[in-house]
Amino acid sequence: MRPYVILNAAMSLDGKIATKLGDSELSSPEDWERVHRLRCTVDAIMIGVNTLLVDDPKLTTKCPRPPLKIVVDSLARTPPTARLLTHRGEGKVLIAVGGEAPAYRVEALRRAGAEVFKAGRKRRVNLKILMAEIWRRGVKRPLVEGGGNLNWSLISEGLVDEVQVALTPVILGGRNAVSLVEGEGFGKVDEAQRLELLSVERVGFNLLLKFKCLR
Ligand SMILES: NC(=O)c1ccc[n+]([C@@H]2O[C@H](COP(=O)([O-])OP(=O)(O)OC[C@H]3O[C@@H](n4cnc5c(N)ncnc54)[C@H](OP(=O)(O)O)[C@@H]3O)[C@@H](O)[C@H]2O)c1
Repeated sequence: MRPYVILNAAMSLDGKIATKLGDSELSSPEDWERVHRLRCTVDAIMIGVNTLLVDDPKLTTKCPRPPLKIVVDSLARTPPTARLLTHRGEGKVLIAVGGEAPAYRVEALRRAGAEVFKAGRKRRVNLKILMAEIWRRGVKRPLVEGGGNLNWSLISEGLVDEVQVALTPVILGGRNAVSLVEGEGFGKVDEAQRLELLSVERVGFNLLLKFKCLR
């Protein structure tokens, strides 16, 4: 058994989730409100370590039951001073590391109040092991909030069930600007993750598209 995984992002018309300089402010105020409401319907919010290092998000919510915050961080590079940890008034923080995370960094994160979970023996976090572990802990519905490399791993491993994209009417360009999905990519359209459109809605200046992932 594994959780029902929702992937959410704000994306430019050309598929970027940040500019070449890492600016990812793509949501309208109305879309931010939607994201805050969505966060209260899930048990956990998951991000990749690069998103943490670039944005230093607090991932705050005003939910009666604050979701668990999960950072996918093979080498425990999350700084103990990250706002996720220092603004920990609500909700626990779980750092998922790989088999080669240095013990001193793991210890520093534990001292900063995070729980550290070793997901597999390899260098990279094993996402299937992580999903099984959070399911065991009662996380049935996590929300993934990027970035592009984490999105690719989850999608290519068939671990995403629903995609919500707030399309922003801007074109960012830039070969080094992060796209919704990075990684190696599929070789053939036949191999791609197929989706079915569930709804289309205008949310402020964003166009919110919801899809379910087909198997
Ligand atoms: N517009 C939006 O909605 C939105 C949302 C989120 C993020 N963003 C933007 O996206 C950018 C960051 O995206 P990103 O693609 O560079 O990074 P990311 O997906 O946030 O993080 C990727 C990192 O996660 C770690 N990781 C550990 N295990 C992994 C696994 N199994 N698969 C994939 N990654 C794994 C890897 O680092 P290690 O090998 O060191 O572990 C990897 O480099 C930022 O600019 C941020 O602002 C935008």
